[in-house]
Amino acid sequence: MEICKLRVALDGPSGAGKSTVAKAVAAKTGLVYVDTGALYRTVGLYAAEHGIKMDDTQGIIDMLPEVEIKLAYENGEQKVYLCGEAVGNKIRTESASAYASAVSKIPEVRAFLLDMQKKIAAGGGVIMDGRDIGTVIMPDAELKVFMTATPEERARRRHKEQVEKGIDVSYESVLENIIARDKQDSEREAAPLRPADDAVYFVNDGYDVEGSADYIIDLMEKRASGLE
Ligand code: DC
Repeated sequence: MEICKLRVALDGPSGAGKSTVAKAVAAKTGLVYVDTGALYRTVGLYAAEHGIKMDDTQGIIDMLPEVEIKLAYENGEQKVYLCGEAVGNKIRTESASAYASAVSKIPEVRAFLLDMQKKIAAGGGVIMDGRDIGTVIMPDAELKVFMTATPEERARRRHKEQVEKGIDVSYESVLENIIARDKQDSEREAAPLRPADDAVYFVNDGYDVEGSADYIIDLMEKRASGLE
């Protein structure tokens, strides 16, 4: 099998570098990178823009029929359209992250986004990142990687990023947040974060983006040639 036809599921907690690494893998192999977190962020954005509070579960469920999401791939980049308008960076704010996390806990929201993700996966030639890609969206993916890093390493990376943006925050508080988020993500009822039984568990402490991408490409090559 050619590696550009593979379906690669990349799951793991936030801060492990999934999206950056997946983009690097896509650029080197010709796979299409599909960012599923963007879908949850877009549902969250719709709620925020319509004054629906993030703890108003019924309000969020009731608004779903109005939410029209389209994905397009332009120059190898994923673009998300919400009711005809490109969402751009509006889904990347702190508030959008909090909304995304809240809506992603609601089973009806997960069901709402399921078909779209399954259809994209069916075409093959994709690397999809998320939390439930190997377990729910592509249980038959040719390669599943659960990529993580220790909480301390993720906190170091996140803290460095924040400091570079001029945000005054302590390493300890970033670490505390990461540990709390991990607990919440792995203990939630709907699609708790857990590796698929047949996923390769990759702790990328000490790897940079290039190193992590090469590690995954090596797994892809072995898988594609049927050696593993
Ligand atoms: O990967 P991200 O930070 O963009 O994800 C945003 C939120 O959506 C995050 O709280 C986890 C959730 N999510 C999910 O539950 N399932 C996915 N497949 C992708 C993201």
